[in-house]
Amino acid sequence: MNDLLPGDIETWQHVEKLARDMFGRFGYGEIRTPMVEDTALFVRSVGEETDIVGKEMYTFEDKGGRSLSLRPEGTAPSARAYIEHSILNQEPVTRWFYIGPMFRYERMKTGRYRQFFQIGAEAYGAKEPAQDAEIMDMVAQFLSALGLKDVTLNLNSLGDEACRPAYHAKLVEYLQAHRAEVCAECQARMDRNPLRVLDCKNEKCQAIAAAGPNVLDFLCEPCRAHFGDLQRKLTALGIPFVVNSRLVRGLDYYTRTVFEFVAAHPALGTASTVGGGGRYDTMMKGLGGPDVPAVGFAMGLDRLVLLLKETGQAFGAPVDLFVAVADEGSHDAGLALASRLRREGLHVAFDTRGGSLKSQMKRADKTGARFTLVLGEAERSSGKANLKPMAGGDPIPVALDAVAQALRALPSAS
Ligand code: HAM
Repeated sequence: MNDLLPGDIETWQHVEKLARDMFGRFGYGEIRTPMVEDTALFVRSVGEETDIVGKEMYTFEDKGGRSLSLRPEGTAPSARAYIEHSILNQEPVTRWFYIGPMFRYERMKTGRYRQFFQIGAEAYGAKEPAQDAEIMDMVAQFLSALGLKDVTLNLNSLGDEACRPAYHAKLVEYLQAHRAEVCAECQARMDRNPLRVLDCKNEKCQAIAAAGPNVLDFLCEPCRAHFGDLQRKLTALGIPFVVNSRLVRGLDYYTRTVFEFVAAHPALGTASTVGGGGRYDTMMKGLGGPDVPAVGFAMGLDRLVLLLKETGQAFGAPVDLFVAVADEGSHDAGLALASRLRREGLHVAFDTRGGSLKSQMKRADKTGARFTLVLGEAERSSGKANLKPMAGGDPIPVALDAVAQALRALPSAS
């Protein structure tokens, strides 16, 4: 779990702001759900046999004897809120997004943390492939607005309750024939939840899974049509994708479409998936809610920030002006000037400790301020001062009561 401090936080805020702007454009409204939920919510949706629920949840008993868990993801809490607030009675299609911390007791490495942040979105009420395409378009536009390149969209369909059982049966039959070759964990998985064998990290298990039955060969006609239409729509939108029939994702609730955006960047090491999601048309009903189709995704904010840092871009508002004082007697006037300019909307730094002009100028350098104004007795009595460009150049004379206007008139002042 990481502390986020100034210096880094500006990049986080930049990503969050861009997400809010972009998702707003697509008609998504922000939701904030509690950080803890009933453990049963995740067991029933994400699935008992998944790594997330089986091994990674922070689960505890509260003083009322209830089993609660820190949320490991945001889809189940959103669905719970959708059901609890009877949203279907209010509108047929609902688009929500969330930004917040999630918790998984995972093995730490670059890009993988135990508290991490997700930016996620869920669209309820539309079963059509256009909804899947629209949500992938939103992610693609968001990643491109961030300036992230070399991100590949992987796409697959896992079928639905009509066709998946046949695939399951075939997969189990195939895996049973290779029982001795897979890891002990996969031996258990193949009995309880065979799809999970496909995302085992063990190389041998991966090779065996790769040579097994292909889920796409088992799709029923409606699922095949849905998947085909989705691909046509993505192509029409100009969104490149790769069909990857081994993509199953680590959560049990998916039906039909699943997808992942994968970045090929060494900064992420093996944690290269920046976001993933899919359709989950049966989850809401399974949780006791209405029969509402849904599709969504979540991106790892920590990973996006890691990638963005690699681009060397600077975020956050620059300091417009450093107000320095030439003598102790001008300190109060300096404090008042800084206060007024801030009220007028400028980013102003001021050394509240006072001290020598030399030490204040050092401080001004550190803040990266664009200009410094030195206030002394002469300036106070004349009402005039100079703006000294910190990058070099001639001082610019200003009236003390028109500093904000003068700074704004200069190129790239805020
Ligand atoms: P997920 O694939 O488990 O999906 O997580 C989504 C993203 O969260 C991952 O692609 C990754 O970028 C990030 N992430 C996951 N675990 C960690 C971690 N330990 N440290 C850092 N980043 C991490 C879901 O959570 C689904 N709820 C997505 C979804 C929404 N499906 C439908 N709607």
